[in-house]
Amino acid sequence: MKETIEIAKEVLKNNRRSGYTLPTNNKLYPAQWNWDSAFIALGYSYFNIDYAIKELETLLTGQWNDGMVPHILFHDNDESYFPNHKTWECGNKIPSSGITQPPIIATIVKNIVDQNKLDQGQMKRMETIIKKLKKYLDWFYNYRDTNKIGLVSIIHPWESGLDNSPIWDSPLDKVKIEENLKYERRDLNVSKSENRPLKKDYDAYITLLNQFKKNKYNPNKIVNESMFNVIDIGFNSIVIRATKDLIKVAKKFNLNFSDLENKITLSEESLIKFYKNEEQSFFSYDFKNHSLIKVDAISNYFILFADLENKEINNKIISKLKKYNSQKEYFFTTVNPKDKTFEETRYWRGPVWINSNWIIYQGLINKDKNFSELLKNKTLELLENKKFHEYYNFKNGDCLGANNFSWSAALYLDLKFN
Ligand code: GLC
Repeated sequence: MKETIEIAKEVLKNNRRSGYTLPTNNKLYPAQWNWDSAFIALGYSYFNIDYAIKELETLLTGQWNDGMVPHILFHDNDESYFPNHKTWECGNKIPSSGITQPPIIATIVKNIVDQNKLDQGQMKRMETIIKKLKKYLDWFYNYRDTNKIGLVSIIHPWESGLDNSPIWDSPLDKVKIEENLKYERRDLNVSKSENRPLKKDYDAYITLLNQFKKNKYNPNKIVNESMFNVIDIGFNSIVIRATKDLIKVAKKFNLNFSDLENKITLSEESLIKFYKNEEQSFFSYDFKNHSLIKVDAISNYFILFADLENKEINNKIISKLKKYNSQKEYFFTTVNPKDKTFEETRYWRGPVWINSNWIIYQGLINKDKNFSELLKNKTLELLENKKFHEYYNFKNGDCLGANNFSWSAALYLDLKFN
């Protein structure tokens, strides 16, 4: 039997197109996605560093002039996905979506640089990537931190990468769905409807998209007028970590990003205010409707990845995480099974996802070595038994969603070799 390592490499190589890699080759996602590509680059770095760098370069070719890196780049005219380039009608150099995704790329670039001996040419390419990432993070602070508190807003659930997480339920309920909305979903042709978002979610997703398009994707306008505006804990944790990691890796290239340093102190001070003693948890904030979103989802624990300078709170979060569902064979579920919004097999409302385990693992390494090892070994075991799928059932490890899923394969390689 082929070794899992070899299968992981094959999944990535088979999903590779010219200079970028699809999230899966089963037609569900026929384009390049922002955070998928970052995870994928990390996977390549274990067997083909040029593929890794190329993946990142291709993604950044689609960067907008204002600095935003879109959540999807449509490299060819494939129209089997909805919404495709014809719906979005935007992009710089490459047709793209008009929103972004978590900037996990900065942490991944730091990891790749730290772990590899790059030659001069590769260092030069990395330097260009790092400068583009500075522009990307500046874009977040310039356009999405509207209160200047060091925390950014997301204006569409797709920006979170956790499309139908129950965190978005109450903000989405308040979105006024466009009248006579017409569109045709394509995801249900290649995936089971009981594992995918509902029609009412899609109606809101497309209503929001149409509003951004009407505003010609003007970065100030779309934030100010969006019917959805959430200060999300998971997303901000990734942004803070990205800021810290970009500053560190830039130093290796003699680049000085000290203006970003001021952001960190402010961001941490602001973020801590979303910690609620009673529940021993962080909760996201519906900025549009001024209310806290009390859902016990795994992305609230991404706060560990932010590496806050607050040992007491970090320890409380870890002890709460130990009771979340780590007693079970397969963890972590994307939502706590005890939360009323939990759904065992529906996408981001319950199943286990490998990237979310990876983010938590990265957050635990320097805080609770034993617990981090347990998580790593359980995740490796799941992947060795079931191979590379999009998400998994927490009770029996059943494979859900797409197969040959790139980031599951890429992060397997990272967990295995680290
Ligand atoms: C879905 C996921 C998102 C991912 C994309 C491609 O939209 O929610 O996180 O980036 O698919 O895999």
